[in-house]
Amino acid sequence: MKDILERLEERRAQARLGGGEKRIEAQHARGKLTARERIELLLDKGSFEEFDMFVEHRSSDFGMDKVKIPGDGVVTGWGTVNGRTVFVFAKDFTVFGGSLSEAHAQKITKIQDMALKMRAPIVGLFDAGGARIQEGVAALGGYGEVFKRNVIASGVIPQISVIMGPCAGGDVYSPAMTDFIFMVRDRSYMFVTGPDVVKTVTNETVTSEELGGAKVHTTKSSVADGAYDNDVEALLQVRRLIDFLPANNMDGVPEIPSFDDPNRVDDSLDTLIPDNPNKPYDMKELILKVVDEGDFFEIQEAYAKNIITGFGRIEGRTVGFVANQPMVLAGVLDSDASRKAARFVRFCDAFNIPIVTFEDVPGFLPGTAQEYGGLIKHGAKLLFAYSEATVPLVTVITRKAFGGAYDVMASKHIGGDINYAWPTAQIAVMGAKGAVEIIFRQDIGDAEKIAARTKEYEDRFMSPFVAAERGYIDEVIMPHSTRRRIARALAMLRHKETERPWKKHDNIPL
Ligand code: HXC
Repeated sequence: MKDILERLEERRAQARLGGGEKRIEAQHARGKLTARERIELLLDKGSFEEFDMFVEHRSSDFGMDKVKIPGDGVVTGWGTVNGRTVFVFAKDFTVFGGSLSEAHAQKITKIQDMALKMRAPIVGLFDAGGARIQEGVAALGGYGEVFKRNVIASGVIPQISVIMGPCAGGDVYSPAMTDFIFMVRDRSYMFVTGPDVVKTVTNETVTSEELGGAKVHTTKSSVADGAYDNDVEALLQVRRLIDFLPANNMDGVPEIPSFDDPNRVDDSLDTLIPDNPNKPYDMKELILKVVDEGDFFEIQEAYAKNIITGFGRIEGRTVGFVANQPMVLAGVLDSDASRKAARFVRFCDAFNIPIVTFEDVPGFLPGTAQEYGGLIKHGAKLLFAYSEATVPLVTVITRKAFGGAYDVMASKHIGGDINYAWPTAQIAVMGAKGAVEIIFRQDIGDAEKIAARTKEYEDRFMSPFVAAERGYIDEVIMPHSTRRRIARALAMLRHKETERPWKKHDNIPL
């Protein structure tokens, strides 16, 4: 028996070495951890239960029958993150570059099936070169199986991808269908085809970093939701994100003990809005002062900064925040901001996370660049996402709510449950100057008349009271009591139920 146990231990030790000492050293020399080291950091200490450690590929083409490595380039299993079950697979770059064979795909799909059956989140750690070239269509078929499961699980369990090395082909398409993608700066890349293929096909000379580095994907393409300096930081942040997320679309948000009084007032909010309506202020300050313990997990922080999206907690329960940011482009809604916020709103709605919207928006961004880029369709995505949402929606207009953007940002008319305004709110079709120049065009040139007309318009419309008189605003609230008012609204809305007609699915403008 002793021999048998020793042989098992030997086989395990060999499997744990993956591609061998040399390749592990090379992995470390590149500033990357191994698949197993990453899993250790992601999960609670000692909680990892590994599956399929001895699985090998079944290919014999191109001499592959002579190179078989237990595990076949992916480490899979489950464990816990702060006590909650999470399924995980981590590509092992030391084994055939983490590339996906038929057997490797079966290891992943087993974990995907388990995660879905158990209604628990799944995290993929990617460091891999896509389909195993030696396996041809067997590898492509394997990816198809993974992709299909990504889609079936979408909106049922949270799926998170972390890109931790050079990733190509299927190792970017599978993440692309998950809910969140995080990258590691300077050593992770995502591209459908790498720089060599790009050079051959388009004759462009481009580095991996320029083609698909973390900066490109968090600031330009918006493929990734966040970037971190190294593996350790990325994995710790994923743990933090998981703490905010429900395990599935039925469980409801997790509840974490909070020591932050929901009735806490913050007098500094009474002076957050500058006297001059054209002066910016930092909307993040409001979010940080409202959420429990100032803990806010921002999504897509570096992209379309004119809108802020992210998770916080009120009374220990997760809330999604969407907020216009007057510090960037005056908080205007453009195509990028609309798409970013729409995707976030849909994630929250799919997983029953209530949404709080802070609104200070001068309208949609005019111009040919925006119109040619499809602003109508992209803006409609956000309008559609809010309108279809059935989770509790609480909106606070802090200053401007102009034009179509007023309707879009979770107004009463499209489904806002509780709509508050600060006394500094201005709700109108457009700013006073623009409005007067259109409706009193005949007076342009007469400075005195225009000034009088502008004042008249401001007095009539540039306040929350016209909307409040119609009931479009439930109440004009004191800025200092914003946290208390939101906490009470969310508590009241906890068991909200909304009936909608049956449909197969909607047809959101893509
Ligand atoms: C088999 C692979 C491999 C692959 C890498 N390796 N990718 N083996 N199939 N797809 C092997 C290498 O041969 C090498 O083995 C080891 O992994 C490390 O790779 P390197 O190239 O030395 O590393 P690096 O220079 O860091 O470059 C990493 C890389 C590059 C950018 C990922 O390897 C690469 O471009 N690979 C091919 C990417 C690709 O075109 N994949 C197919 C995509 S199609 P040795 O033994 O020499 O160390 C696809 C279909 C899905 O995925 C469908 C999508 C819709």
